[in-house]
Amino acid sequence: MKHSELFKLIFGLIPVAVLALILLFFFFTFYLPRRRKSNVELAASESTTDPDRIESDCELVHEDLVCFQGGGDLHIPDILDAPGEVIGKSSYGTLYKATLIRDHVDSLVLLRFLRPACSASIKEVISVVNAVGLIRHPNLVPLHAFYVGPRGEKLLVYPFYNRGNLSEFIRDGNAESLKWEIIYKISYGIVKGLDHLHTGLNRQIIHGNLKSKNILLDSNYQPYLSDYGLHLLLNPTAGQEMLKTSAAQGYKAPELIKMKDVNETTDIYSLGVVVLELLTGKEPIDPNPSHSREFYLPDVIRSAILDHQIGDLYHPDLLTDLNSEQKLIAEDRILKLVQLAITCCSPSPSLRPHIKEVLRKLKEIGK
Ligand SMILES: *[C@@H]1O[C@H](CO)[C@@H](O)[C@H](O)[C@H]1NC(C)=O
Ligand SMILES: *[C@@H]1O[C@H](CO)[C@@H](O)[C@H](O)[C@H]1NC(C)=O
Repeated sequence: MKHSELFKLIFGLIPVAVLALILLFFFFTFYLPRRRKSNVELAASESTTDPDRIESDCELVHEDLVCFQGGGDLHIPDILDAPGEVIGKSSYGTLYKATLIRDHVDSLVLLRFLRPACSASIKEVISVVNAVGLIRHPNLVPLHAFYVGPRGEKLLVYPFYNRGNLSEFIRDGNAESLKWEIIYKISYGIVKGLDHLHTGLNRQIIHGNLKSKNILLDSNYQPYLSDYGLHLLLNPTAGQEMLKTSAAQGYKAPELIKMKDVNETTDIYSLGVVVLELLTGKEPIDPNPSHSREFYLPDVIRSAILDHQIGDLYHPDLLTDLNSEQKLIAEDRILKLVQLAITCCSPSPSLRPHIKEVLRKLKEIGK
C-alpha cells in the first residue's frame, strides 16, 4: 500500500469517527435520561398500550408516582407530607382523609394505604391500576394517583366527597335519607355506576366489595362507587379477609366462597342488599344481636313479602307528608323497588337479573 493511499484512508475515516462520537454523545445526554424520567408520564398517559415496558421499568424504580387525569400536578412530597386523619381501617390497609397543600391552597383527598404484605405482585398491581386509573364516570370515584413506596407500600389518591359515605347518610337521622326522590336518585346512580363497570369497559371490572360504606355522596346526593376492583390489588390471603368482612357485614352472596370467584352475579347480590338498606334504613345485619332470632335484612324482607307484612318492607317515614293519592303512587313505586332489590338478592345466582335488566326496571319504576 502506497503512503498516499493510507493517508487518504485515514482522512476518509475521520469524519465517520467524529459523527459516531457526536451520536454517542447525544444518546447519553438526551435519550437515556428522558427514557428514565418518563416512567411516570408513560404510565399515566392514556395512550400507553405497552404494559410490559411499564412493568419492567417499575420494578427498577423503588419509589414512583403514577398520575391520572385530575392528579396531574401532584408530587410525592405533597402526598407523603399531607396531614390526615384515619376514617377507616381494614386488614389490608387504612383509609385517610387528608389535606393536600399545593400552591398555598388546601384540598381534601381520600388516601387509601395498602399494606405491602397484602398486595398482589407489582406486575398485577400496575396492570390493574393502569386500567382503573383511566375509568371516568359520573357515578364512579376516579383514581387520581397511585404511589409505590420504597418498602412496597402503596397509596391510592382519590377526591374527597362532602357528604361522606352512604352508610353514614342512611343512619345519621338525616330527613333527606327518608325521601323517595333521594332514595331513587341514589339507587339510580349506583346502578349506573355498576353498569359502567360491568358493561361499559373494554375489560370488565367486577366491583367485588360493594357496600354502603363504599358509596360516597356529594352535596347533591349524587352517589359515587369507590374501591371498585380493589380486590384485584390484593393477594389471595388479603382477598379472603376482604370477603370475610363483606360476609360479616351482610353483603356477600351466599354461594361465594373464594374472592377470586367474584363475578357479575355476586355484585348484583350486594347491590340488592344496599337498595334494601336504603329503603328500610336498617343495617343488613343487626350489629347488636340481642334478639333471640338472627336478623338478616334480605331474609326479613323475603318473609315479610310472604306474610304480606307490607309495613315492614320500607321505612314508615317514607310516606309522611303525602296526601292519600300521593301515598298510593309512592307506595306502588316503593314496593316495586323492594321487589327488584329482593330479586337481586335471590339465593340462586342464575335468578338474579343482569345489570341492564336492573337499569331497565329502575327506569320503569321512575316513570
Ligand atoms: C363512613 O362514615 C362514618 C361516619 O362518618 C365514618 O365513621 C366511617 O369511617 C366512614 N367509613 C368509610 C369507610 O369511609
Ligand atoms: C358467579 O360466581 C358464583 C360463585 O362463585 C357461581 O356460583 C356462579 O356460577 C358464577 N356465575 C357465573 C355466570 O359465572
